[in-house]
Formats: sequence, C-alpha cells, structure tokens
Amino acid sequence: MRTIRVGILTISDRAARGIYPDESGAILRERIVEQMGWTIAQYAVVPDDPEAIQRTLRAWSDEEGLDLILTTGGTGLGPRDFTPEATRPLLEREAPGIAEALRFYSLQQTPFAMLSRGVAGIRGRTLIINLPGSPRAVREAMDILGKVLPHALAILRGETGPAAEHSLHA
Ligand code: MTE
Repeated sequence: MRTIRVGILTISDRAARGIYPDESGAILRERIVEQMGWTIAQYAVVPDDPEAIQRTLRAWSDEEGLDLILTTGGTGLGPRDFTPEATRPLLEREAPGIAEALRFYSLQQTPFAMLSRGVAGIRGRTLIINLPGSPRAVREAMDILGKVLPHALAILRGETGPAAEHSLHA
C-alpha cells in the first residue's frame, strides 16, 4: 500500500504577504505527519483569490493526484472569504457529512463554529476538505477527522474490505 500524499493549502491574504506566519498550516503539517503518519506532498500559501485557489486545487488533484487536500482559511463571512465558492465547482461529488460533522463537533467547543461555510468532496481520486483558518479550529478539526480519514481514503482508493472495516471498529 503506497503512502497517503497530502496537500496543505493555506488561504489568507495576510499569511500570503508574510504579515503573519502560517501557524494553522504548520499545525496541519505536524498532525498529518505525526498523528497520521502520512506524507506532505504539497504545501502552499495563497491569497483569498478564487483563481489562485482553483489553480492550486486543480493542479494538486488533476496533475499531482494527491489523496487528500486540506485547505485552511477563507471560510467565514468576511468580504474576501471565497474558499467554499472556489472549491465547490471543482467537486465532482460533495461529501456534505464531513463538513456537517466538523461544524457539529466544533459547535460544542464554540458557537462561532457556525460561521464557517466550508465544504468537502471528491475530485477524481482526491478528497478536498475546507477547514476554518484559526489554529484552534484546525486542531479541533483534526481531532475528529483523524478518526475517519484513514477509512475514507481507503474507500476512495478502492482498498477497503473486511480488514479495513474491522480495523475501524477495533
Ligand atoms: N471552528 C472551531 N473548531 N474552532 C474555532 O475557533 N472559529 C470560527 C469558525 N470555526 C472556530 C471554528 C470562526 S470565529 C470563524 S469566523 C469561522 O470558523 C471561519 O473562519 P475562517 O474565515 O478563518 O475560515
């Protein structure tokens, strides 16, 4: 079984200009490598620009064939929060339960979680998930995603069978 290749895309005008460090991207990187044991194949910081977001998502799914892309930022109500609008048209099949679960779980930590409009779904063989931008939000998201992503990606890769089902419930 080949390793799972992940892309981390931080979407933030200020992080792209270097006004502040990409703390959420760094947290995701650490969780993906240390918690999940997967490989960071791509990492980028782009401004809140729908074309830049779409260019990156297309390249990482269609050309690189990544298994998973986690975006962070640009999901709120701000005038330049375009991440869901940039992501949704690229999804061939939405996975609304993932976005719903993230909001549901996060709402138990903070009522502000309802302000995130992130979407999730599949393009080709790539699962794309929008996460909010704050470091706290990405930590909380990985707490819940970490339990489900191995199985989700196994299904997407056509690898699931009795053994995978069994390990999920072990
Ligand atoms: N989700 C969790 N788990 N923890 C948080 O602190 N912050 C919220 C929300 N989701 C938050 C969260 C806030 S304050 C906003 S504005 C939205 O995510 C959108 O954030 P974004 O625009 O940086 O993507």
